[in-house]
Amino acid sequence: MAKPINENKIVIFSGAGISAESGLQTFRDSDGLWNNYSIEDVATPKGWEKNPQLVLDFYNQRRREAAKAQPNLAHCALVDLEKKYEVIIITQNVDDLHERAGSNQVLHLHGQLCQARSCATGQVYHIGSDDITLESRCDQGAQLRPNIVWFGEQVENMNLASEHIKTAARILVVGTSLSVFPAAGLLKKARNRAEKIIVSLDIDSRPYGYRWLRGKATENVPHVINLWVENKRIFPK
Ligand code: OAD
Repeated sequence: MAKPINENKIVIFSGAGISAESGLQTFRDSDGLWNNYSIEDVATPKGWEKNPQLVLDFYNQRRREAAKAQPNLAHCALVDLEKKYEVIIITQNVDDLHERAGSNQVLHLHGQLCQARSCATGQVYHIGSDDITLESRCDQGAQLRPNIVWFGEQVENMNLASEHIKTAARILVVGTSLSVFPAAGLLKKARNRAEKIIVSLDIDSRPYGYRWLRGKATENVPHVINLWVENKRIFPK
């Protein structure tokens, strides 16, 4: 039997667009990372096998940029919601801007830049803003790699994310093209009567039942949060 909706639960599902106004490049916008780098080269296990230095350079650069960036008004507005609701942030982002804004429950689907992982044991290490090099080793002496989920690898926290989406009364999707699966497929698990909003500059398609607020995260997210704090709907039923 389906678990009942938790009227007090809000799920935020975020992507690169929420960090764009903090100065971090998205992937698929016209100035996005995937216009300058090949996914095969820097975001697949094959790319790592072929040229680990190139992969390390790519993520070292991302890590340095993320460390310099500051949370923006959209990240910060989400923290206010926690005063009134149980807020679960499910993010495809590998930066830590949600955590640095002060959000307490953040599930990363695609890994985290501030972590490295042993190629031999899978053990995860916190590395902060440090580079990973070809000399970086785990306790067992094996090479460390970025703790990033590459294409073809297992997405993290899927079951937990799915449970939260199934029981949320409100869902806010921010700054994602919804083009990467299985992450994007999670949104279909939302309940019919949950209020479901997408904030984004642009979208190709949206899952059934989601309403689109077109525009910047720093403008639209605080707007949504203000209404939800007052227990109001964004669109009338
Ligand atoms: P994308 O680059 O695919 O999409 C970014 C979305 O954010 C687009 O829909 C933009 O319209 C929107 N956007 C850009 N600036 C915005 C702003 N200021 N305010 C609101 N919306 C804005 O990024 P993701 O959907 O996060 O995975 O990409 C998903 C995954 O693809 C990433 O996690 C990454 C990538 O390959 C891996 O590397 C495994």
